[in-house]
Amino acid sequence: MNTRFIKISSATPEPIFIDDAAEVLLRGGLVAFPTETVYGLGADALNPEAVRKVFAAKGRPADNPLIVHIASIEQLFELGKDISPIAQTLAETFMPGPLTLVVKHSSIVPEIVTAGLDTIALRMPNHAVPLALIRALKRGIVGPSANLSGKPSPTTAQHVFDDLNGKIEMILDAGPTEIGVESTVLDTTTNPPTILRPGGISRERIEQAIGTVQTSKEIELLKRSPGTRHRHYAPKAKVVLIEHRNVAQLKHALHQFKHEGKKTSALVYSSELLELSNGSTFHKLPETIEGFSQQLFDKLRALDQLGSEIILIETVTETGLGVAVMDRLRRASEKM
Ligand code: TXA
Ligand code: MG
Repeated sequence: MNTRFIKISSATPEPIFIDDAAEVLLRGGLVAFPTETVYGLGADALNPEAVRKVFAAKGRPADNPLIVHIASIEQLFELGKDISPIAQTLAETFMPGPLTLVVKHSSIVPEIVTAGLDTIALRMPNHAVPLALIRALKRGIVGPSANLSGKPSPTTAQHVFDDLNGKIEMILDAGPTEIGVESTVLDTTTNPPTILRPGGISRERIEQAIGTVQTSKEIELLKRSPGTRHRHYAPKAKVVLIEHRNVAQLKHALHQFKHEGKKTSALVYSSELLELSNGSTFHKLPETIEGFSQQLFDKLRALDQLGSEIILIETVTETGLGVAVMDRLRRASEKM
């Protein structure tokens, strides 16, 4: 298949390109699109054949349900049901934005979308391109991250091209995504609601809106069941985390991997650690958590392409967006 690569305006998407992409979706084809978090792989959410192609293109296990992207609160009620007052408050407060709400699903949703669960994950992206596309199609659009399953999520159209060229009809390129990590997934069918995946909207902001929430980790600890965690967001290289500003730990790791003859690079942001740089193997990430988050997946992919065997990464403070970033770093380093 010949994948069409189309540059589109992120502020005012050209109607001609939106109509073109909507046409592909209507015919059951796949279109990758930008969002404020990461690029998504779109298909008509009400067309099971099209949704099946999404699982195939990504190599995604059939038991991992998809997020459906919506462009209006009405669609929340069309695709979901028994929407709680708390879920409504969250929708009013954070949609559009990087918060995905898990609610009970209505009867129009194909089983393949939800992997047979009685719930559905719904999100309204804060980006003009997918909003225009959903309106043009007049349907929800499934949108898992547009990467091969298990790889770092794509934050540029080039990342999508690298993973999915030849497997999908179209890639809409509106430049690098703003946030760089995926949306927060919040299950509103539990009381209190449960954060299933930390992401672009912090726990603190959710709790300001609706009061205390719990995390799936806390529940697991409570049940004393470790749960199954897959290696995820992972580059080919082995990722080793270095504590913030821990000079001794970084020195030790550099020494060890040099001794083992491993091609080693480091992603750091504090001046203490940057000073240990021995030339080209060190890459600086921004000191702000927003900047760090925006660039992380791009740097991981770039270092993979350079053939790094080991990537040392300086950790971030685990508050606000830092919770989502640390979640991705731990998954990449397999230490969950
Ligand atoms: O920021 C994002 O959320 C991006 C952009 C493209 O919107 N999308 C994204 O989709 O990250 P994906 O498929 O890579 O991640 C969706 C997550 C998965 O962890 C999946 O297991 C979970 O949401 N999920 C989907 N439906 C669910 C459901 N009914 N109940 C619980 N978790 C669900
Ligand atoms: Mg994903």
